[in-house]
Amino acid sequence: MKLAFFDSGIGGLSVLHHAMKILPHEEFIFFADEDNVPYGTKTPEQVLKFVDEAIAFLVAQKSEAIVVACNTATSVAVRKMREKYSVPIIGMEPAIKLALDKFPNRKVLVAATPITVTGKKIHQLIERLNAQDLTELLALPNLVEFAERQEFCSAAVENYLRRELTKYDFEKFSSLVLGCTHFNYFKDTFRKILPEHVRIIDGNAGTVKELIRRTNLKPREGLSTVKFFYSGREVTDGLEMKRLEKYMQRLDEMEGIS
Ligand code: DGL
Repeated sequence: MKLAFFDSGIGGLSVLHHAMKILPHEEFIFFADEDNVPYGTKTPEQVLKFVDEAIAFLVAQKSEAIVVACNTATSVAVRKMREKYSVPIIGMEPAIKLALDKFPNRKVLVAATPITVTGKKIHQLIERLNAQDLTELLALPNLVEFAERQEFCSAAVENYLRRELTKYDFEKFSSLVLGCTHFNYFKDTFRKILPEHVRIIDGNAGTVKELIRRTNLKPREGLSTVKFFYSGREVTDGLEMKRLEKYMQRLDEMEGIS
């Protein structure tokens, strides 16, 4: 089955990386909107237009299901895209419910982009879960820039995160929910800074589960294929392929950090 994964940039590779392990027999397309990344600091109107263009491209490629592997794009545009296109569209949701189910009555810190933390969608989710007193939201836009330039582990990354996280009394928190797919590249630095008892939770497994549910796919043995696109241009250049491989290796290294 032809399955498309879309993100503003390379964050969505973390969802693709997981999907390729669970579904090793499918035909994958990955679309990174490298011309327009980052989305999280733009206006919702701009993001809606970018997402619409990307989905139109992926529909034209005959994608049979599209995963919006971007919390920001999901927050702004997924409802409208489902109204416009008939292909199944699966979005990302910050895994707040998972964190609260695992650790009832303990606080959850959700890190995401500025658009996601101010958007209606996350506030509706928190209300639905009746978790207003148990949830804090933190925007970390610089991590998107660090990830795009492959600066995964540096003094600048660590200083930025230490500065941002120092304002929380983590004794009250059970977990940090990664509400932006770009943040998966920094699990080791988060782990280094956060107290041992605070778990790092991402939404990748939940999204792939939802993809399987919506498509009725059965995991089968075999070899997957994957094509990469930057804003509609297929990536074939050796250097760019190397860049993408480096992200996949980084995700291998981050696996198991929680
Ligand atoms: N990776 C995206 C997310 O999950 C957005 C990053 C950005 O473009 O600002 O929200």
